Amino acid sequence: MDNIILVAGATGNLGGSVCKHLVKNGARVRALVRAQSDQEKVNELRKSGVEIIAVNFADEDGLVSVCKGVSCVVSVLAGLREVIVTAQSQLLQAAVKAGVPRFIPSDFCTDFTQLKAGENRNFDLRREFQALLETSNIQATSVFNGAFAYVLQYGIPLLDTKGKTIAYYSGKADWQIDFTTIADTATFTAYAALDDTAPRYLRIAGFQLSPNGLAALTGRVFGEHFKLKEQGTLEQFSAYIQKLRTENPDGENQLYPQWQQMQYLYSMYAAHHHKLDNDRYPGINWQTAEITLNEISNNKIA
Ligand SMILES: NC(=O)c1ccc[n+]([C@@H]2O[C@H](COP(=O)([O-])OP(=O)(O)OC[C@H]3O[C@@H](n4cnc5c(N)ncnc54)[C@H](OP(=O)(O)O)[C@@H]3O)[C@@H](O)[C@H]2O)c1
Repeated sequence: MDNIILVAGATGNLGGSVCKHLVKNGARVRALVRAQSDQEKVNELRKSGVEIIAVNFADEDGLVSVCKGVSCVVSVLAGLREVIVTAQSQLLQAAVKAGVPRFIPSDFCTDFTQLKAGENRNFDLRREFQALLETSNIQATSVFNGAFAYVLQYGIPLLDTKGKTIAYYSGKADWQIDFTTIADTATFTAYAALDDTAPRYLRIAGFQLSPNGLAALTGRVFGEHFKLKEQGTLEQFSAYIQKLRTENPDGENQLYPQWQQMQYLYSMYAAHHHKLDNDRYPGINWQTAEITLNEISNNKIA
C-alpha cells in the first residue's frame, strides 16, 4: 500500500521542503491549503507532484475526509494560539477520527521539555497542544532541531557581524547551542514521517556551536576573531524578558513583540540536546557551521 502523508503548512518554508523530500522518497503527498494561501506556492507544490486539497480547518467533516487513508499527518503550521493550539487541535481530532496512526506536530524548535513553562510564549503554546496530543489515540513524534541556522544572521545579538561581537551569558562561553538548516530539518522530518517506529521525540542538530567555538570560526570565515561580550547571567536575562512581557501585555498576542527574539536566545542558552538522533536515517549530509558562516559572510541565506 502507498504511504500517504498529509502535510499542513505545505506552503511554508519548512513545509515546502518537507513535501519535496517526501516526494523524492516515493511518498504520496497530500497538502492542505487554504483559500488565502499563496497561489504561486500552491502551483509550485502541484507541479512537484503534490496533491493539493483546499480546506477550511473549521470544517471537521471535510478534514476527516481528507485524512482518510493517511499514514502520517505532518503539521508544519506556524503562528500563535489560533494556529498552534486551535488549527492543530482541529487537525488532530480529524486525524484521530479518520484512524490516522501517526502525527508529527509543528514543534521544530529547541527541546522545550527541558524548559519551565512561562519562559517562552511560543513553546508554551506547543506545550498546550502537546497536552491534547498525549491523551489522543495516535502515535506522536516531535522533531527538535534547535534553532534554524539562518537565525545566526539575525544579529540577535548572538552573532553581531557589524559590531563583530558574540553575546553570551555568565558561565556559558562553552555552552553548545543546537543549529540545523531548514533543508536538513526537512530531510530528516520527511524520513521520520515514513518511519512507523519513530519514537516520541527526535533530537537533531546539523551543528552544535559554543560562543568560544563561534569566535574561533569567525577568525577563519571573516578574517577577524569576534570578541565575546558577556551579557550578565541567564537568570538576569530571564527576569528582564519577564519584565518586558509584564509591561506590555498586548505583546502576548503579537507575532513579533519586542521580546520575541530574546525569548529564543534565552532558550538557546537554557536547553540543548545531550544526545542526537542525527544518524537514525543514513545519508543526510548535515550542513556545517563553517558553510553556514560562509553563507552569512557572502550574504546568502543559510
Ligand atoms: N527553530 C527555529 O529557529 C524556527 C524558526 C522559524 C520557524 N520555526 C518553526 O518551524 C515551523 C514551520 O515554520 P515556517 O517558518 O516554515 O512557517 P511559514 O513559512 O511562516 O509557513 C507557515 C505555514 O502555516 C500555514 N498557516 C498559517 N496560519 C494558518 C492558519 N490559521 N490555518 C492554517 N494554516 C496556517 C501557512 O499556510 P497559508 O499559505 O495558508 O498561509 C503556511 O503554510 C513552525 O513550527 C515554526 O515555529 C522554527
